[in-house]
Amino acid sequence: MVVNKTELSRLTALQVMQDAAVIPVIVLHDVAHAVPLARALVAGGIRMLEVTLRTPQGLACIEAIAREVPEAVIGAGTVRSAADVMACSMAGARFIVSPGYTHLLGQACRDTDLPLLPGVATGSEIMTAQEDGFTELKFFPAMQAGGPAMLKAWGGPFGDVKFCPTGGVSLANAAEFLALSNVVCVGGSWLTPADAVAQGDWARITALALQASQLKLSS
Ligand code: 3PG
Repeated sequence: MVVNKTELSRLTALQVMQDAAVIPVIVLHDVAHAVPLARALVAGGIRMLEVTLRTPQGLACIEAIAREVPEAVIGAGTVRSAADVMACSMAGARFIVSPGYTHLLGQACRDTDLPLLPGVATGSEIMTAQEDGFTELKFFPAMQAGGPAMLKAWGGPFGDVKFCPTGGVSLANAAEFLALSNVVCVGGSWLTPADAVAQGDWARITALALQASQLKLSS
């Protein structure tokens, strides 16, 4: 599916989650890897891409993908402050993913009109994000914080919330998460192994993306 610019400017967090079963969490150390990596993922059917700010090159990688790979929808991950949000917006990020939630972060995303998938790991964090209007959330770190059993438990009191579990999710357990009614998609770094990126093994990354894009998207 090709999204035009108008649709992109109206992207919601739910649309980010519904595009494919997996949002790849990407860590890049070399700006030269950004564009071929993005193209490799898109070739495998994955186009919502979360490039993290974990490396000094992250922002420049976001910028390069935004400029050169229009068929990808570039997002920023590991966003922790309002200043990060502003920088990502300037770099061309179309959505924001954070490992936790603060009011300032939520406000910065509203100010820049960027959809946010805020990270939560407790009921209080879910309620804080909900108070600010965020109902599509990243469950992080998913496996370490309770895995599928935690999501099942949250389905009772937080039945109106949709999750993207991330952290310890892999091809081996993704289907278990995706089978849950409150999970739309999962996030994970397994599509972009550090050695494949370092070696420029884009064919391997396309193969991993193809495999992931065939996972059943949760309804
Ligand atoms: C994230 O930042 O969302 C996680 O570190 C990704 O976790 P994973 O490496 O276990 O997939």
